[in-house]
Amino acid sequence: MDRIRIVGGAPLNGTIPISGAKNATLPLMIASLLTDQTLILDNVPQLADVALLKRILGNHGVDCMVQGKRAGQNGTAGQTIELSARDIVDTTAPYELVSKMRASFWVIGPLLARLGEARVSLPGGCAIGTRPVDLFIAALEALGAEIDIDGGYVTASARKGLTGGLISFPKVTVGATHVALMAAALARGETVIENAAREPEVVDLATCLNKMGARIAGAGTSTIRIDGVESLTGARHSVMSDRIETGTYAFAAAMTGGEVLLEGATSDTLDKPLAVLAEIGAEVSATNEGIRIRRNGSGLQPIDVSTEPFPGFPTDLQAQLMALVCRADGASHIRETIFENRFMHVQELARLGADIHLDGQVATVTGVERLTGAEVMATDLRASVSLVIAGLAAEGETVINRVYHLDRGFERIEQKLGGCGATIERLSA
Ligand code: UD1
Repeated sequence: MDRIRIVGGAPLNGTIPISGAKNATLPLMIASLLTDQTLILDNVPQLADVALLKRILGNHGVDCMVQGKRAGQNGTAGQTIELSARDIVDTTAPYELVSKMRASFWVIGPLLARLGEARVSLPGGCAIGTRPVDLFIAALEALGAEIDIDGGYVTASARKGLTGGLISFPKVTVGATHVALMAAALARGETVIENAAREPEVVDLATCLNKMGARIAGAGTSTIRIDGVESLTGARHSVMSDRIETGTYAFAAAMTGGEVLLEGATSDTLDKPLAVLAEIGAEVSATNEGIRIRRNGSGLQPIDVSTEPFPGFPTDLQAQLMALVCRADGASHIRETIFENRFMHVQELARLGADIHLDGQVATVTGVERLTGAEVMATDLRASVSLVIAGLAAEGETVINRVYHLDRGFERIEQKLGGCGATIERLSA
């Protein structure tokens, strides 16, 4: 298994091209199931999760053509993929595929809406919490689906098609909002989604669905209205830039000091994390080319932050923030409110010398003068990148094991950081 070796201490200086967003790409690819015409997606990142979803969609009969290009090669745009779901050959998503990536459960929405049936494995355990699917099921039932759960599979059927209805989420869920949007796009009549997720990735999906002929209004607010249509067409859509990757490198630059341009990043999806970063002590400026982060030797200020649904501070940047404030002058408090078990990076950061005390969902991080390199283990996607950030500032050598977690969501991380002066390399097993 690959490992990443980092020798800490160097400031980051230079330009990092930001890739297309993983969390937008996945639902956009799944939306291809809604039409028998071709959906073309530009600026798609080359990631293990994208490759896995190609396989999962291929299993349903989706034809997927890729023109390989990575962000930063030939400009900043990523690869283009053409997805054609002309003939769906299988409406079952099996356990061996769904268990590898939770988001593949989302195929249940478009398969049900277009073909009147879907049989999708329950995603199973997940390292960052139980993550149930009750809200997906309630949403589909509100559109008239009959749901049966048996043998680890959810079977959804609507022989005469879905009908519009009221979906009122008791809590904000990104995945179930995506699924509700896709299913309602092809339902008969009007659907209203209340307490919808306002994440920019939901807006990106709604924009693409509208290009495909859907009638969706209000995406980006908590009430979304969808006027169902009989069928959707092909379209071409460029995936939004990755706000989590942007935030991650912004936190890394603040950690090491130096000056980095995050090329192609858009600040309007990152208001809260950038405000937090400025409060901690980095200079943040949005330019036409992207976002510039600068810190010159000044100390880092401690901070109190709670994760929240958008536009609050994202849970997907919680681990990176924690790595950063490990070096702050004083005690920070970080509360995780979205997932119940998203502190697995704490014990690994402690191996690098961090002083973190956990009390339920609150981590108290007391800044230390120095972190020291050590061998650590990646436990999930965002946790692993927090170890990279800590390793960049630690004295000596840090080796991160189980790098496949990083490859799920960060494109060319060694090249992007190495290009800015970091000593970072991949050690192949
Ligand atoms: C998505 C993101 C993930 C991010 C998360 C929260 C993708 C591929 N993943 O995950 O990176 O961390 O949003 O911003 O886009 N819940 C239920 N019942 C359900 C569904 C969800 O109780 O049926 C709960 C979850 O356990 C969690 C909360 O709702 O506590 C939010 O989860 P959700 O927004 O659905 O996360 P994902 O869509 O899985």
